[in-house]
Amino acid sequence: MYYSDEVIEEVRSRNDIVDVISGYVKLQKKGSSYFGLCPFHNEKSPSFSVSQQKQMYYCFGCGAGGNVFTFLMEYENYSFVEALRYLADRAGVELPEQEYSKEAKARADTKAILLEINKAAAQYFYAQLKGSQGAQALSYLKNRELGDDTIKAFGLGYANKYSNDLYKYLRSKGYQDEMIAKAGLITVDERQGAYDKFWNRVMFPIMDANSRVIGFGGRVMGDGKPKYLNSPETMIFDKSRNLYGLNRARSTKKPYFLLCEGYMDVISLHQAGFANAVASLGTALTPGHASLIKRYVQEVYLTYDSDEAGTKAALRAIPILRDVGITARIIRMEPYKDPDEFIKNLGAEAFEERIGKARNGFMFSLEILEKNYDMHSPEGKTDFMKEVARRLAQFDEEIERGNYIEAVAGAYHVGFEDLRKLVGRMAIQTGLAKPVERPKSTQGKKKEKEDGILKSQKILLTWLTSDEAVFRQIEKYITPADFSEGIYRTVAQLLYEQYEKHDVNPARIMNHFTDEEEHREVASLFHTKIKELTTAKEQEKALQETVIRIKNHSIEEATKMLDPTDIKGLQQLMNAKRELQDLQKLHISIN
Ligand code: UTP
Ligand code: MN
Repeated sequence: MYYSDEVIEEVRSRNDIVDVISGYVKLQKKGSSYFGLCPFHNEKSPSFSVSQQKQMYYCFGCGAGGNVFTFLMEYENYSFVEALRYLADRAGVELPEQEYSKEAKARADTKAILLEINKAAAQYFYAQLKGSQGAQALSYLKNRELGDDTIKAFGLGYANKYSNDLYKYLRSKGYQDEMIAKAGLITVDERQGAYDKFWNRVMFPIMDANSRVIGFGGRVMGDGKPKYLNSPETMIFDKSRNLYGLNRARSTKKPYFLLCEGYMDVISLHQAGFANAVASLGTALTPGHASLIKRYVQEVYLTYDSDEAGTKAALRAIPILRDVGITARIIRMEPYKDPDEFIKNLGAEAFEERIGKARNGFMFSLEILEKNYDMHSPEGKTDFMKEVARRLAQFDEEIERGNYIEAVAGAYHVGFEDLRKLVGRMAIQTGLAKPVERPKSTQGKKKEKEDGILKSQKILLTWLTSDEAVFRQIEKYITPADFSEGIYRTVAQLLYEQYEKHDVNPARIMNHFTDEEEHREVASLFHTKIKELTTAKEQEKALQETVIRIKNHSIEEATKMLDPTDIKGLQQLMNAKRELQDLQKLHISIN
């Protein structure tokens, strides 16, 4: 399964990234980079850049980025090995017979096997649905008004009535019990041996953004319990980071997603022409989901069930989306339960109308809040307005807050100025109450600071890779150990090694990471936008500040970790502090 680093590097270096990407995206040279419209999100002006020097691409709009392998993995949904083979072929490199995994790659290896097993299972379930045993399941799906094209597009299937049929099939394809169990498809019982997790259920394969099957949901055909049985979380299946339907929704060019609650809602909506529908997988929306969505769209229309649970879920989702900068709107399904039933009864056009009438998330949350107050009594209404004012006070942005105050004043017939004053008073009250009432806020501050440091580290890494002269001036002050543990430090280490060997090559650093998610993050380290600083003097000042901030943070961290009896460590720390003093005076020159 795995190829040596040398082979990977040879294939990479023989495929110029600008050539390869030009086959997919129209690129134009601008300065030292090429720019074009990003193929991974919807945009009107080009923010997708390809650097020939770094042999990497990066989108300043959505954060997609990587080297030539990553590009094909994202664009063509290739696995790493598929991308490697394709590019080897393209450049006429002959790949050696497959080499087997080293310790470090075992994990990635297991992941690849789990993906294969899930794919084989999905194919098997699909064949069962179409086979003689699947008649009842197929008619269940037909009764739910799903067409053949839809069944095929979503890869729906059937797990038959035998309790170990899938297991036997997977064994016959050569997969070991250990791996099948790791994929979450069997339960191993000491007495009974291995048996399938899913039987006599209609199967919904769950795919990641690249259409790779990572798990399943299985529905009973009727009223049994549980209604849906889902794969457990596995090495490849993380419920809080995947959305059902995303593999298809991501390539629609609509600027928003329809976010719903269920498998069937997504499928019905897609079938009715709303291919931008996605659902979280039987869990509430998490911040992980929100940032995943943010990669593709800035706006979400929530189309949750119209019952109390659905309303609550929507109210919880709104602030989570807001936190990552997504605006939420609410579509109501009344008098129907969910989008699936709505479409069946009223059709796609009526749904389109509801989209048009979607309500702003904040205003919607007030309508729900209203139900807790007696709006006909003056006290009731006053208490309600106080609560509203308290919530309005939480908009940090003045203009946004003003706009909402205006909207609320209009909707609830109160004077704009009166409401504005009330909001001001509430802001002071809650401001005073802050330390007791919102213990979270200090955590938020800490996180903000953490993010700030990472941003500085990113900026410095971008600088170091683009300009050797800068590297030579700062290498005696900043070492890889000054970077935060994990990806940042690993990347710094590799970069410093490359400078030592006088062979700087950011795209090769990427070969050390096997995961698309890691590629994205590493790419962002080399492409951080440094504010438009025009003069060299401004740049030098910014660079000096960045270096000081990183060193300072690193010293703070080391201080926290220091064992007071560790004399040597103490001395090192003193030295570092002295260096920090020197840095204040250091002049870094940029040409
Ligand atoms: P719903 O009960 O609303 O599902 O639960 P649905 O998709 O509308 O189901 P149908 O139309 O009756 O077939 C919403 C989602 O919650 C998860 C599933 O992901 C489901 O799609 N769920 C629900 C479970 O995981 N397990 C359950 O037992 C029920
Ligand atoms: Mn339903």
